[in-house]
Amino acid sequence: MSALLSIEGLSAGYHRKGLTLEDVTLPIGKGRIVALLGANGAGKTTLIRAVSGVIDLHGGSIMAGRATFDGRDVTRMSADRIVRLGMGQVPEGRLVFKTLSVEDNLAVGAAVLPRGRRTARLDAIYQLFPRLAERRKQAAGLMSGGEQQMLAVGRALASEPRLILIDELSLGLAPLIVKAIYDQLKVIVAEFGTAMLVVEQNARLALQYCDEAHVLERGRIVLSGTAAAVAGDPKIRESYLGLGEARQGDAA
Ligand SMILES: Nc1ncnc2c1ncn2[C@@H]1O[C@H](COP(=O)(O)OP(=O)(O)OP(=O)(O)O)[C@@H](O)[C@H]1O
Ligand SMILES: [Mg+2]
Repeated sequence: MSALLSIEGLSAGYHRKGLTLEDVTLPIGKGRIVALLGANGAGKTTLIRAVSGVIDLHGGSIMAGRATFDGRDVTRMSADRIVRLGMGQVPEGRLVFKTLSVEDNLAVGAAVLPRGRRTARLDAIYQLFPRLAERRKQAAGLMSGGEQQMLAVGRALASEPRLILIDELSLGLAPLIVKAIYDQLKVIVAEFGTAMLVVEQNARLALQYCDEAHVLERGRIVLSGTAAAVAGDPKIRESYLGLGEARQGDAA
């Protein structure tokens, strides 16, 4: 089965800084939740920028390899065209339009849809996140961090994407709201068949929700496997989950 998004041998970097990503290969199947784990500065956000057509806006570029989305080469394609092909994004730091209302933020996401489909899509998002419905006329900047993250997910979903790239969903949010949003991501996958690439520093959390995981270290994929296989890997247990053998011994 061919992947929905296929990243093959991708190398990328920023002006004069050498390679930030080196020979990254990562397939994402339809309706799968795939986690990308890694420490600060590993290159997770850079990978999202590279496949979503915005790396040049950050002074970077793709040096080698390619990304294919639903059989089409999207390497170096414009961000706008990539969104229209069905790849949505929840960027690092959420970046909702703070002065616009909740509804207008969602409308921006839905703008790529034919007019006749927009209202139904927004209604579906309000069903997934009732808090957004309650606050639909409120300025996005006046909502809590968790609500803004829900809005960022809703805005990405509004364009009816087949894949959503999500960068650091949990950052700075209370565990309960993070769990609530992750639970809804599962519902979105089940209801709409949307695939997701979830970038997380919180490996424990991501491994609870994903089907497969890849670990990025200094721009290279050092481990790939099912969520269970990655969670059981001794190095991951030690370095990412705080469950090393020594610690287990300490606790006993
Ligand atoms: N616009 C930029 N210009 C130059 N270097 C950059 C730029 N953005 C990121 N970098 C560098 O590229 C490397 C990877 O950064 P990136 O933001 O992709 O990491 P990350 O895995 O997302 O980290 P974090 O978990 O902190 O978000 C870092 O060394 C960073 O300093
Ligand atoms: Mg990042």
